[in-house]
Amino acid sequence: MKKPHVFIFCSLLLSLTACSVRKPLKPDAGLIKTIDQNFSDASAQYKVMMKYLPPDRFPKTFYSETKKFETSGSDWWCSGFYPGTLLYIYEQTHDQALYTETERILKVLEKEQYNKTTHDLGFMMYCSFGNANRIAPKTEYRDILINSAKSLASRFDPRVGCIKSWDSKKDEYLVIIDNMMNLELLFWASEATGDSSFYKIAVTHAETTMKNHFRPDYSSWHVINYNPETGAVQKKRTAQGYSDESAWARGQAWGLYGYTVMYRKTKDKKFLDQANQIAGFILNHPNLPKDKIPYWDFNAPDIPNALRDASAGAVMASALLELSQYTDKKNSNTYFTAAETMIRTLCGPPYKAAPGTNGGFILKHSVGHLPQKSEVDVPLTYADYYFVEAMKRYKDIADNK
Ligand code: GLY
Repeated sequence: MKKPHVFIFCSLLLSLTACSVRKPLKPDAGLIKTIDQNFSDASAQYKVMMKYLPPDRFPKTFYSETKKFETSGSDWWCSGFYPGTLLYIYEQTHDQALYTETERILKVLEKEQYNKTTHDLGFMMYCSFGNANRIAPKTEYRDILINSAKSLASRFDPRVGCIKSWDSKKDEYLVIIDNMMNLELLFWASEATGDSSFYKIAVTHAETTMKNHFRPDYSSWHVINYNPETGAVQKKRTAQGYSDESAWARGQAWGLYGYTVMYRKTKDKKFLDQANQIAGFILNHPNLPKDKIPYWDFNAPDIPNALRDASAGAVMASALLELSQYTDKKNSNTYFTAAETMIRTLCGPPYKAAPGTNGGFILKHSVGHLPQKSEVDVPLTYADYYFVEAMKRYKDIADNK
């Protein structure tokens, strides 16, 4: 047993540490007003989007020049973002029409709980059913989430120590940095069922990814090709970035967000250190513009004329706000201020769409897959999702939630 004075000293130290970490941040009342206006505008925009959407389809993007509204089926990796965005807006505005639309589209999405051909089940099912269950828990949602986690876990191979991202040739086992975003679903399932195998898979995946996906400067490769028999790394390359050795902006954002969630769920300091290092890479990079919305790739050859990626900026803002709650005072202020700048930038031109335009999407100017010339400088459903999430997080910090 500890001696009383040692105990008192330890308690004091702990509470001092906690004080220096807990919310030393000063949210800006002006920005909160803008955010409230944004939520009200977003509600109107998503009602415009609803009119474009065929009943069994999900929004993908909108091409302003041709007025083409592109949609997908429920099996596309982005299908969860539409219901997720509706729910975040509904939470702030209490607009019942958005909740009714969410319930409708969740019915179209629910069959994906059994989809074992994709690693994207976290994006698809947790951003949607996860938020729905958080706001109004239902047994039906719980069952769907557990089945989704089982489908995701079926893609884990202990020989590699990762969940397989993309099905490929027999002698390849491909894992992308984006996959870090699917782990939160596994943590939820572990907590909901008491089955620690979900937790162990998430931790093993994150540890393997930490070992193989990161360069010494804490930027990440996009794709690691593992030997499926031995787990040895066969190749490190890109798919959506400028080059194999470049830092694709959204990939860096996925890593930042993913390791922040890992720390929230495990409280293991190595994951906090990893998230801090990734944040350092992003925020200290000479090619990060002053307004903090990154170019689509930190090494794009045509910087400063390269395209920006609003989606990467939105993911980074949301992740940095969460990370600002876990770290020491200096980093906390740096992350919070950077996230504020990102949100402020996205709230204005050229990013925020004028009411009634942009196919109902909130944001313009994201980059999906530039090497394939697909979804280049367009609105994207995940840019909207992480933007509204970042704004909610900002408000929650202001409200001390
Ligand atoms: N592969 C998901 C993304 O485009 O970020």
